[in-house]
Amino acid sequence: MHIHSRIADLRAALADRRRIVFVPTMGNLHAGHISLMEQARRHGDTVVASIFVNRLQFGPNEDFDTYPRTFQADCDKLAAAGVDVLFAPSEADLYPEPQEYFVEPPSIQNILDGEFRPGHFRGVATVVSKLFNCVQPQVAIFGKKDYQQLMVLRNMSRQMALPIEIVGGETVRADDGLALSSRNGYLSAAERAEAPRLQRLLAGIRAAIVGGNRDFAALENAAIAELTVNGWKTDYVSVRRQADLAPAGSADNALVVLAASRLGNTRLIDNIEV
Ligand code: PAJ
Repeated sequence: MHIHSRIADLRAALADRRRIVFVPTMGNLHAGHISLMEQARRHGDTVVASIFVNRLQFGPNEDFDTYPRTFQADCDKLAAAGVDVLFAPSEADLYPEPQEYFVEPPSIQNILDGEFRPGHFRGVATVVSKLFNCVQPQVAIFGKKDYQQLMVLRNMSRQMALPIEIVGGETVRADDGLALSSRNGYLSAAERAEAPRLQRLLAGIRAAIVGGNRDFAALENAAIAELTVNGWKTDYVSVRRQADLAPAGSADNALVVLAASRLGNTRLIDNIEV
């Protein structure tokens, strides 16, 4: 695996590569990230990953400083997964001067996670746009774990006429159902045992909807009421339309149930398609 930190070196290394598939990450890699690398291999000839903890997408009171940085272990996992090229810029490489031009997503950036993380999706769209310009892939893969992020980036690519196909990857889970996340490492043993409740509640809502229950507000409220026990503090549980993440009406099909809740100091998100 070739590792580059400077944009010019990366461009030179990729100049004669065919069909580049790109998987951006913030590192601290787990089996969810690696599944995207394996999926990437099936979509093209050259698999490029990136590791960059993007300050722009963290709020002032969020975990930018403490976000786990495990570069050497990440490199070993990427090499073992058959990644061809790793782009791992420093802040000085990617933001040599303060970033003053931004990619501003439309109102979708203010709903769900965006309501609780102001500026987050603007930071994501801006860095991904910049990473796209560095790597110039034909395909880019993002996990459905971050459902709203995938939609923001898919819409960005389409509206900006980027020649990049955006592909979604399924969420990889622990045996007890908890969606893998770099932030799971923040959980205490007791919190880790409690954490799968989020996924169980979403699966329960899905089962109720599949069984014919169309009273989405009641389903949401019951889940929110349950997510007050054992230290949970819930931001949202919401039944939405897959197409645009607007609140689902009782006649809508192709739904997704999304949730975000904090367990102690750890914010967990998850979702399930219906
Ligand atoms: P990060 O949280 O490191 O995630 C990198 C990619 O892995 C994202 O596409 C995310 O959706 C996917 N992913 C995370 N957990 C997953 C799981 N359990 N199963 C499958 N895929 C999973 O998302 C980001 O970084 C950043 O916002 C980024 C897009 C890199 C921009 O900075």
